[in-house]
Amino acid sequence: MDKNLARKEIDRLREAIAQHDVRYYVLAQPEISDTEYDRLYKQLLSLEKQFPDLTTPDSPTQRVGGQRVGGFESARHRTPMLSLDNTYNENEVLEWDDRLRKAAGTTEFDYVVEPKIDGVSVSLIYENGAFVRGVTRGDGDTGDDITHNLRTLRSIPLRLRLPFPKWLDVRGEIYMDKKDFAKLNATLTKHGEESFANSRNASAGSLRQKDPAVTASRPLRFLAHSIGTVEGGGWKTHWEFLKACRQLGIPTPPMVVHGDTVMDCMRQCRRLERDRDELPYEIDGAVIKVNVLSIREKVGMTQKSPRWAVAYKFEAQQATTQVLDIITSVGRTGTVTPVAKLKPVGVGGVTVSNATLHNFDEIKRLDVKIGDWVLIQRAGDVIPQVLHVITSRRIGKEKAFPVPAMCPECGALIAKEKEVEVAYRCTNPGCPAQLTRGVVHFAGRSAMDIEGLGEVAVVQLVEKKFVKDMADIYTLSKKEALQMELFADKKADNLMAAIEKSKTRPLSRFLFGLGVRHVGEKAAYVLAQKYLTIDALAEASQADLQAIHEIGPVMAEAIVSYFKLPTTQTLLRKFKRAGLTMKEDAAKRRGLQPFQGKTVVFTGEMEKYSRPEAERMVREYGGNAAGSVSAKTDFVVAGKEPGSKAAKAQKLGVKILSEKQFLKLLPENGN
Ligand code: IVH
Repeated sequence: MDKNLARKEIDRLREAIAQHDVRYYVLAQPEISDTEYDRLYKQLLSLEKQFPDLTTPDSPTQRVGGQRVGGFESARHRTPMLSLDNTYNENEVLEWDDRLRKAAGTTEFDYVVEPKIDGVSVSLIYENGAFVRGVTRGDGDTGDDITHNLRTLRSIPLRLRLPFPKWLDVRGEIYMDKKDFAKLNATLTKHGEESFANSRNASAGSLRQKDPAVTASRPLRFLAHSIGTVEGGGWKTHWEFLKACRQLGIPTPPMVVHGDTVMDCMRQCRRLERDRDELPYEIDGAVIKVNVLSIREKVGMTQKSPRWAVAYKFEAQQATTQVLDIITSVGRTGTVTPVAKLKPVGVGGVTVSNATLHNFDEIKRLDVKIGDWVLIQRAGDVIPQVLHVITSRRIGKEKAFPVPAMCPECGALIAKEKEVEVAYRCTNPGCPAQLTRGVVHFAGRSAMDIEGLGEVAVVQLVEKKFVKDMADIYTLSKKEALQMELFADKKADNLMAAIEKSKTRPLSRFLFGLGVRHVGEKAAYVLAQKYLTIDALAEASQADLQAIHEIGPVMAEAIVSYFKLPTTQTLLRKFKRAGLTMKEDAAKRRGLQPFQGKTVVFTGEMEKYSRPEAERMVREYGGNAAGSVSAKTDFVVAGKEPGSKAAKAQKLGVKILSEKQFLKLLPENGN
């Protein structure tokens, strides 16, 4: 392609990507699938690679600069970042309004009510439409410059859309959607890393990363809620400011309403409180603000909060109760997690009797002891947590819970792997608890998919010492299987058949099942596609592995050390002797991607494959398997007794395939 043409194409792609970002984050009306978006992005990337001098810092490909920073530089706010006064009931809101009207000397103004997002506030600076700096609130006057990390958020435009003000400091909240937060924690736990206590901590922690690539991998989002300094805005009201933000490409909170009187605002506060669980992100209150900017100026501020706005805090989903005991459980990677056993207590309609304590640092931080009265919080679907100890209720008989020296399950020493880690792990690779969780994972649906090898069965097999490592599954005899509770002839036969069938599972699933630290389902797939056999992978050097786009240094190191372990070598030898193939199908690599870029939804029962199997195949052949039908669905596969999804597909005009038609698309069936 000639350079002029490339320049045009690059401009077109950047504009398209920016527009899709706005559609996704500002309008919440995505037009294309993630795969299509990725395709545009890859096209742009490859053109910029071909013509490096056409790459500019505001290109969407330059979000992750790649630089690691030593520490964060301080940056002073041109206008201080204030906080809000809190109110907890209608009376306090009315009192605030009285003071406000007095200061304003008029009642001729209106209000805006917004959800109060439970995140981390930041200030974004745009000079001549370009994002130049992003700063944390800090002490209100000076914060940390976290520009490199904020640049990685797709919801923060690198360039504003026209017409933009000459200088803009827009403030807002960095947060995570509840769903994304839960997923992030699950992934961290799965990889043996520490999870976050709540989404606010997760956002703060993700922003304070030295490596922007880590921030980029976290599901952070931004919503604007206030103006810092602006030159050339010309807005008279907050409402106009919010509207302008959306035109500039900056997302603003949904559910913002206008109020003529303070009672209108109260009504909206109650509505938000009632519907808080339905919002995709955590909110801890509502914010009532004066709409007219000139009135804001007139009333000014008190020591550190404006007179023109107030937070109405929702009733917390909290309760006090007593810690009856602290117990520990051992995970698949040996992490020992403390859990508080509580005197059962109702919180927001649910009885809570356990709260996670996350790790032993958290016990120390909270200074929680057995017998203590504590304040606990339940938010959405996350596991309840202990917020703090009510020390005034101590009677002196509370018992401290020291970090156990030994694994509660096997008695081996427990230790931190590295000093900087918070997690203590059992150091015994033969720990029955670790082995049990590891085998359950290995046999799980996303790994070897051995039906009948769930937690209950595996606990018994480990207890009876029939299974001393993962490979022992394959030497299990029917006689041994019959010794398990509730295992009669047929069930034992089925288990033996399921075990046999799993021997030919592809390398990607086998690898995921092994549970190598940091290697999740996607990484396992990438590795399997690259190396095709377990032996080739076992020989890969750290440099080889790191050369793969999706594999970072931490994972590469974990893989190399895993394959170096003598226990791993023994394990692999046993798997081989048992007849496991541990191979990936090279056909897929040669570009057989019948589902490339397609989103498929399954409904009803199929004969040949289980739902997860069919979904996995779609993914392996380049597509995306979704759970629900939308206009973005390419086709719905309807098995026996299809559900409402088929009806919805029909309504939306989405193509419906029978199981037979679907099978025909699969390369293994001759396509
Ligand atoms: S207005 C002058 N609006 O709550 C204060 N703040 O304690 C400007 N927050 O630091 C803030 N949602 O980080 C405003 N819709 C919203 C908000 C919001 C969350 C945070 C903000 C602020 C804290 C106030």
